[in-house]
Amino acid sequence: MALRTIRILGDPVLGKVCKEVKEVNDKITELIDDMLETMYEANGVGLAAPQVGILKRIVVMDVGEGPIVMINPQILETSGEQIGDEGCLSYPGKAGQVTRPNYVKARFQDEDMEWCEIEGTELLARCICHELDHLDGHMYTEKVEGPIHDVKYEEEE
Ligand code: NI
Repeated sequence: MALRTIRILGDPVLGKVCKEVKEVNDKITELIDDMLETMYEANGVGLAAPQVGILKRIVVMDVGEGPIVMINPQILETSGEQIGDEGCLSYPGKAGQVTRPNYVKARFQDEDMEWCEIEGTELLARCICHELDHLDGHMYTEKVEGPIHDVKYEEEE
């Protein structure tokens, strides 16, 4: 496993549409391991492959309930609405208010390329929407309502 460099807003790779993953080979497995390590090291709750410069439809997430790896994810259903602050590892130290669905149902392929479904509310729903947007070249900053503000992180105890 190795840490990868997180691309920062303004890097053209963050504006590109990612390609479907056809098979999970050793290179993809290594990428997924590296993405998880990079996300945890940065104290993030989600990371998409283009954020480490790879234009493939892969995201990793952990909203506090263990790692989730999604390959070729697609949103099937959404409902409700939540308004809250959102940040991104590609725009460190900043956050802004974004409206997202409060419930999301999605499907994705796992590391055996089997189709799975996931349902989430609140933070997980927000995270799924945010990470999937990255796969189509979109950042939350395009959806922000009002000003983007600085975030001060508390010291870890
Ligand atoms: Ni992001």
